Amino acid sequence: MWLRLGDGTSRRDDRYGLGVVVGCDVADLPFVRACRGLPSERVPVWFMRQAGRSLPEYRALRGEGSMLDTIARPDVATEITLQPVRRYGVDAAILYSDIVVPTHAIGFGVDIVPGVGPVVEHPFREARDLARLRPLDPEADTPYVLETVRNLVAELQVPLIAFAGAPFTMASYLVEGGPSRTHALTKSLMYGDPVLWAALLERLADLAIASITSQLDAGASAFQLFDSWAGALAPHDYERFVLPASRRVFAEVADHRADAPGIHFGVGTGELLELLAQAGADVVGVDWRVHLDDARARLGPGVAVQGNLDPAAVLAPPPVVAERVADVLDRNAGRPGHIFNLGHGVLPETDPEVLAQVVEQVHGYRPIP
Ligand code: CP3
Repeated sequence: MWLRLGDGTSRRDDRYGLGVVVGCDVADLPFVRACRGLPSERVPVWFMRQAGRSLPEYRALRGEGSMLDTIARPDVATEITLQPVRRYGVDAAILYSDIVVPTHAIGFGVDIVPGVGPVVEHPFREARDLARLRPLDPEADTPYVLETVRNLVAELQVPLIAFAGAPFTMASYLVEGGPSRTHALTKSLMYGDPVLWAALLERLADLAIASITSQLDAGASAFQLFDSWAGALAPHDYERFVLPASRRVFAEVADHRADAPGIHFGVGTGELLELLAQAGADVVGVDWRVHLDDARARLGPGVAVQGNLDPAAVLAPPPVVAERVADVLDRNAGRPGHIFNLGHGVLPETDPEVLAQVVEQVHGYRPIP
């Protein structure tokens, strides 16, 4: 089988052993077609946080120590990215990395503490902290990420999704110093000093742009901007304080690589869906709090959707999981432009066998004509 890869080159892959030469462009694969709102032979599926956490083979490989050290080892990061693709047969791979990698790489002083998440030694507090957010030089600062991407593109039969943290979600970690329920310090900076806030978001947008474009240049086929905590904002505040920076990320990535679709994701963003689309995304991530048919009605036909099974639903007995999966599929009812996913990341207690079942069910789905 011949595969045309993200960098435009072709490569023969005999793993299928069919001896048949099939022309195959990444743009023709179900995931990329669905991102573009085009019909495809099946509903594509992948899972946020599919790489890591719930997989025993991940835990065995990962060992102890900082996750940032594991990410910095391309051989290990490549293998971890491939594990869920092999196990589940998902339609896309997501790079094993983290949203804090660029800020860590420029020396802002951030680590990932197991069970906690990102922790910042000296949080962002004042104008002079801007100097600590210098531009990212991906080849020099994160060569290991690019090596991992190149390794993966040579191995994978499905598209690789690049990603970055969106300016608001990154600002929250940097200002709060770690995960926060209320985002109180972040919002007080945003409301109290809009000029410094805008300058901070500009720097974070620059980091996201540099990181995503470098991953795409190394061969990734699509990207996801994670604004996980944007749902903490009222729509008018999102529009005024966050949308301009996120819009610039989508615009500049599209200027760089128009062929790479972009997904815009957040949690609790039921009131923000239209604004997430306005940022320039091809695909809007929908969490489980909004029915997919409602989300589609609000977004209109020009935008694809990704989601939206409750990550906790897969912990239920198999018949209940099957019913829930069917409900998500039926709400989309076979319309083009749906990528099946969870409404947020895989929970650590998830049984991988159940996710494999979900993939099988999604792939077997045929809408009633
Ligand atoms: O599918 C994947 O796993 C791809 C890689 C990936 C990770 N983090 C690996 C990871 C991606 C895309 C992320 C993005 C990320 N990181 C987000 C956005 C997505 C989301 O969930 O909203 C956020 C908010 C972070 C910050 C972060 N990193 C958190 C909140 C945590 C969890 C802390 C914990 O241990 O519960 C992390 C750590 C992390 N990132 C793990 C993995 C596999 C688990 C830690 C480990 O295995 O050591």
